[in-house]
Amino acid sequence: HTLLVLNGPNLNMLGTREPATYGHETLADIGQLCQRTASQHELKLEFRQTNHEGELIDWINQARGRCAGIVINPGAWTHTSVAIRDALVASELPVIEVHLSNVHKRETFRHHSFVSGIALGVLCGFGSHGYRLAIEHFAHLLKA
Ligand code: DQA
Repeated sequence: HTLLVLNGPNLNMLGTREPATYGHETLADIGQLCQRTASQHELKLEFRQTNHEGELIDWINQARGRCAGIVINPGAWTHTSVAIRDALVASELPVIEVHLSNVHKRETFRHHSFVSGIALGVLCGFGSHGYRLAIEHFAHLLKA
């Protein structure tokens, strides 16, 4: 099985971007954590980031029938994009939404997510551990 881990805009800046909110780990660190977790469960994993919404939508479209599930941190597109939600639905894949920060204790514009209503589950506020938990949950589901 192959899992797809997708990251939206500005997550390439992790490590230097608002460390009080997002921590000191880089996206490369999180990618390594995800790869390690996947290999512990004998899963393949593709880890990607883009600042271009259309590119993210292309990747979601291409995952249909090819991947077993999607872990997505849509960044700010969480709160703005019907197109990403529609693409996730069209993929017919199970989706776990992840945010490093607890979006519910932040600005009110971060409280609404277009993705949560179609996701299997949402992890927020656990930092990079949320990615690990999401991958472990897919491993658990795929074993059952
Ligand atoms: C984020 C939360 C979003 O509100 C924000 O726009 C991000 C990162 C998180 O991981 O906590 O870019 O998705």
